[in-house]
Amino acid sequence: MAEIETHDLDVLVIGAGGAGLRAAIEAMARGARTGVVCKSLLGKAHTVMAEGGIAAAMGNVWPEDNWQVHFRDTMRGGKMLANWRMAQIHAQETPDRVLELESWGAVFDRTPEGLINQRDFGGHRYARLAHVGDRTGLEMIRTLQQRAVAMGMEVFMECVVVRLLLDQGRIAGAVAYWRESGRFVLFRAKAVILATGGIGKAFRVTSASWEYTGDGHSLALWAGAELMDMEFVQFHPTGMVWPPSVRGILVTESVRGDGGVLRNSEQRRFMFDYIPAYYAAETADSEDEADHWYDDKRNYRRPPELLPRDEVARAINAEVKAGRGSPHGGVFLDIASRRDAEYIRRRLPSMYHQFKELADVDITTTPMEVGPTCHYVMGGVRVEADTCAATVPGLYAAGEVAAGLHGSNRLGGNSLGDLLTFGRRAGLAAAEYATGLGTQPKVDDAEVDAIIASSLAPFEREKGENPFTLQYDIQSTMQDLVGIIRTEEELRQALEELAVLEERATQVAVGGNRQYNPGWHLALSIDSLLAVSRCIATAALERRESRGGHTRDDYPKPDEEFAKINHVLRLEDGKLVLRREPLPQMPPELQALFEEDH
Ligand code: FUM
Repeated sequence: MAEIETHDLDVLVIGAGGAGLRAAIEAMARGARTGVVCKSLLGKAHTVMAEGGIAAAMGNVWPEDNWQVHFRDTMRGGKMLANWRMAQIHAQETPDRVLELESWGAVFDRTPEGLINQRDFGGHRYARLAHVGDRTGLEMIRTLQQRAVAMGMEVFMECVVVRLLLDQGRIAGAVAYWRESGRFVLFRAKAVILATGGIGKAFRVTSASWEYTGDGHSLALWAGAELMDMEFVQFHPTGMVWPPSVRGILVTESVRGDGGVLRNSEQRRFMFDYIPAYYAAETADSEDEADHWYDDKRNYRRPPELLPRDEVARAINAEVKAGRGSPHGGVFLDIASRRDAEYIRRRLPSMYHQFKELADVDITTTPMEVGPTCHYVMGGVRVEADTCAATVPGLYAAGEVAAGLHGSNRLGGNSLGDLLTFGRRAGLAAAEYATGLGTQPKVDDAEVDAIIASSLAPFEREKGENPFTLQYDIQSTMQDLVGIIRTEEELRQALEELAVLEERATQVAVGGNRQYNPGWHLALSIDSLLAVSRCIATAALERRESRGGHTRDDYPKPDEEFAKINHVLRLEDGKLVLRREPLPQMPPELQALFEEDH
């Protein structure tokens, strides 16, 4: 093997967002030699995109709240397809994780009584998002980063993992390269935790930035692990659609949580037309009573703009399709006419400044033009609920890259609690596994050489496919054929187009040299984008119903046949195969929560 920079670790964490940092903190606390690899500079994580808060049943604002209600909201929001055990752990443990974060220095907004304040978000029965203005994810990253660095975390920044390594079917490490120098680096590790986030860059309109190319999903798949529920992609209802400088950028759900309403071109609050029967009891039915209140049975009620994201995104889509959209193909999000400027600037400082600076839109005076933007993937690595262990020994996954907690649709605010709760559990389990393993697994030098050679192959081709064109074409296929509304015909067409793109990707060519070469970096992400795209389209074709983040125009309703199954994907002899897996059975005491009259 050519000489290569090498690091020996117990636990390698890939990704330095909330899940990765929390996992690293736990693994270090358990005495594991831990390293964190991240594509960007430390601190630039998609966690900051979860602006509105951490959903946690702390009961600070509504004493009626408790983990059982949060559990039920999460299950219902995910249209009963979530893994019940993950939803239970999440609802039970997140309040402790929030308090822990506070004890590590996070500065949350307060209630008048001095407790951590909690705000309203879609699909949550009570206002339960612990928040820091509209910068909660940012504060979380700041706090975790400070803690991890103080503990002596070893960080490999601007370093990208291209393949995981196995020794007799167990994790043995990973091969990566430095973005700056283009040199390769070998991590020998007993355990790997994937905390790489999502797949947003497989779509053209997305709230994600360049790092989100599905790396953890594809690394897991290529290493023999299973993915699950990949058909479920979340289109956040309110991404900016205009002006082009901010297209796709997230407008936090907090805007609606703090009183903003959606209007169509006729200036009507159209969400009243889209209240599904099963939410009607908890949703305001009159525009005059649009704010949150208790009815005479002490049911907490909320405006229809705070229905779960999938419902709001579909409603916006329907309004635009019916010709009642805004001039640039969205609808209007109006907080200006509902709250005074001082309130908006205090509660939503990032929204105010960001859109003023980047788009010259003053949200204290002007409605925003918004529409669905690809924001999150519910599908991911299939993991064991308590330990986050994937189906390959030594491999763990936490946060967005892992499947299970959110079922077919994630409630806003449930991601930050996910990162903390399951990041901690993954760190703990990986450290224990690594300690129990004793010696370092063997790395196959020839395999490392082969990975490096194939990574450098794009430089060898004089003429070939441009990686930027390829990425654009992948995004167009996914956006146009596997987007928010799907049909069998379009999904079949998407799979055919992906096959052509996969062929073209074997001919990707780049010029220049290895030093900070964005074309080469993108070329190395193309296979990953294609792998996740194929997984999404394959599972979407197979699910002949509409549920959560997966809407089929040709099967517009949920179907009992699919109500209790997950789609599991894995590679067999290099070919993607899908099987149905029955949902784990919920124990009777949790089942009973859905039978009560709430
Ligand atoms: O709308 C938001 O602030 C996003 C939150 C989330 O994705 O959880």
